[in-house]
Amino acid sequence: MPAVVIVGAQWGDEGKGKATDLLGSRVDYVVKFNGGNNAGHTVVIEGEKYALHLLPSGILTPGCTPVIGNGVVVDLSVLFEEIDGLEARGIDTSRLKLSTNAHVIADYNRSLDKTTERFLGKRKIGTTGRGIGPTYADKMNRLGIRVQDLFDEKILHAKVEGALEQKNQILTKIYNRRAVGVDETVEELLSYVDRVRPYVTDTALLLHEALRRDETVLLEAGQATLLDVDHGTYPFVTSSSATSGGACTGSGIAPTEITRVIGIVKAYATRVGEGPFPTELFDEDGERLRVNGGEFGTTTGRPRRCGWYDAPVARYAARINGVTDFVLTKLDVLTGWDRIPVCVAYEVDGERVEEMPASQTDFHHAKPIYEYFPGWSEDISGARELSDLPANAQAYVRELDAISGSRISAIGVGPGREQTVVVHDLL
Ligand code: IMP
Repeated sequence: MPAVVIVGAQWGDEGKGKATDLLGSRVDYVVKFNGGNNAGHTVVIEGEKYALHLLPSGILTPGCTPVIGNGVVVDLSVLFEEIDGLEARGIDTSRLKLSTNAHVIADYNRSLDKTTERFLGKRKIGTTGRGIGPTYADKMNRLGIRVQDLFDEKILHAKVEGALEQKNQILTKIYNRRAVGVDETVEELLSYVDRVRPYVTDTALLLHEALRRDETVLLEAGQATLLDVDHGTYPFVTSSSATSGGACTGSGIAPTEITRVIGIVKAYATRVGEGPFPTELFDEDGERLRVNGGEFGTTTGRPRRCGWYDAPVARYAARINGVTDFVLTKLDVLTGWDRIPVCVAYEVDGERVEEMPASQTDFHHAKPIYEYFPGWSEDISGARELSDLPANAQAYVRELDAISGSRISAIGVGPGREQTVVVHDLL
């Protein structure tokens, strides 16, 4: 009955899709438990590139059941756009399951996301503008619309009316926007009812039964540890629980069922949007990482901020998530540097600090303390075993393994599914 969680150990875009896909053929269920279409997984299979935003990457693996859990916020127009896009490329999406308790992103929440950001000006979060934050806020405010509400028109109408009573005040009086009509919102949501019905189910029960049958369930986090609403660099975070604890609340699987937690960590670091990022580079090294690593947002196309590997961040992620194994991704992007800096600790207001500071002010002041490792120039994309890597690349991996808080069990050396060095089996 293995329930395995995959989490991002940095600020997102660590390459979780690839790791999920790597396990895919041995996994019976892949569950998305948080976030929405703010995520972006890029999976390359036999040279074909698939960019997924909302659908769990297990959708690409024949025989695997992809599940959108209760912790996700769902934009139904995006859901069907993605389903149609995959079907057009010959991918069967009929196995998809969608939780009856997942919340749906209404049009007014997309408008509010963008409007709020614009009004925040310099204090903006840099959200993806997909309505994620406002929809989670509605959930906590008990103003949200759930998938199950679509099947009871009277309830749906009452809930939309209740939500809009408040939203329209905000939209018109604070932001000077036009009011949104109850009927137009209800109509838009109802237009998906027939299409969505076959996918909707009690996913918590489904997964519980799967675990009782000894099937393997993979819970895949959207975003990452440092973007988690509780454990991330608040307020520059997403609005959901992107850490392993969120895997339980966002799916209905109990903590005692989780057998393994895999943390995905890039061999360097990136961040999208605003917020602290101690190892960020503003020079040509940063540009080189961005170009070599293809560091442009899958969802928004925004250029990602790039920097060197940050070991205190990795240790923090190991601790918060209970990481049992790290997958180190994109090691090949570091090929060609003479020496590679690794942040091993911070200097905060003149003092050396070994761990992630608990105070946000301290983290904003944190300056990286680097150690330097010799680089390599050989092409490593064909490596399949640790011993295939040049000695300096092996030493770099060994060093990260020693200082990151958990062992490194797999290493990505290229975008393809097969371009991976497996040190320890992940299941
Ligand atoms: P939101 O999730 O759209 O509300 O955006 C909040 C913050 O999370 C912003 O800094 C986004 O750039 C960031 N974010 C959201 N999703 C992702 C992701 O999949 N990868 C990286 N950053 C993300």
